[in-house]
Amino acid sequence: MILKETDKLLVGKFLKRIPAFGNLSDKRVDQIINDFTIRTFRAGETVFYQTDMSTDMYIILEGRVKVTLLSEEGDEFVLTDLNQGDFFGELSLIDGNPRSASVIAEEDSTFAVLERNRFLDAIKEDPDIAIDLLKSLVQRLRTATEREESLAFLAVHQRLVKLFTKLIKDEGKKQKNNFYLLKKRTHKEIAERIGASRESVSKVIKKLVSGNLIIEGGDVFLLSPDLFEDIEEPTD
Ligand code: CMP
Repeated sequence: MILKETDKLLVGKFLKRIPAFGNLSDKRVDQIINDFTIRTFRAGETVFYQTDMSTDMYIILEGRVKVTLLSEEGDEFVLTDLNQGDFFGELSLIDGNPRSASVIAEEDSTFAVLERNRFLDAIKEDPDIAIDLLKSLVQRLRTATEREESLAFLAVHQRLVKLFTKLIKDEGKKQKNNFYLLKKRTHKEIAERIGASRESVSKVIKKLVSGNLIIEGGDVFLLSPDLFEDIEEPTD
């Protein structure tokens, strides 16, 4: 499929931000752009399921996805949320094995999609792509290890504070009273991201609300800086 000029510009813009492609010359990026296709998904649609045999890699041009593990009982454990400019699908792309997790669009999303064979061709021409991709994989592995450490050693309260710290770094705003403002999540959404039950998250939040460490508004959380006194306070 031939990309429209506007899509080419968009793909080129994001391609340069991805470590694996960031060091390529403009000329090479212009060539690789032509190997991508564009796919769109509506909020709530599944891009692919864990164990699917597809092997394409996706770059998020617009929107947001969650990378998640789904149990047969319908429980969910969200490994990570990915935003505009992030990529996913590199594991099956590299080894040709089934998907390691499911990916679901959290907003209407548009992706630039690269087929495995095209990617392997690109690596043969520019081996630096493989080295840079390896660096991204190592970073993801480190993050996953840190998360396992949290699951193994931290109580639900501490895991919750860690999640809030990350969310504040990504999107939080400091208010005049030094509280941090964050888009509200349901207790279920929080539970799925810290490997806890919804009930235990509700219990911890209730306690924090009664201690004035969290204020739950209609669609926001206000978080007191005192919530972070045991761990490094987020910098914004
Ligand atoms: P793949 O296995 O092809 O399909 C699922 C994708 O989710 C995977 O490639 C990675 O891009 C991404 N993924 C899987 N596990 C993690 C994780 N622990 N952290 C971040 N991303 C992940």
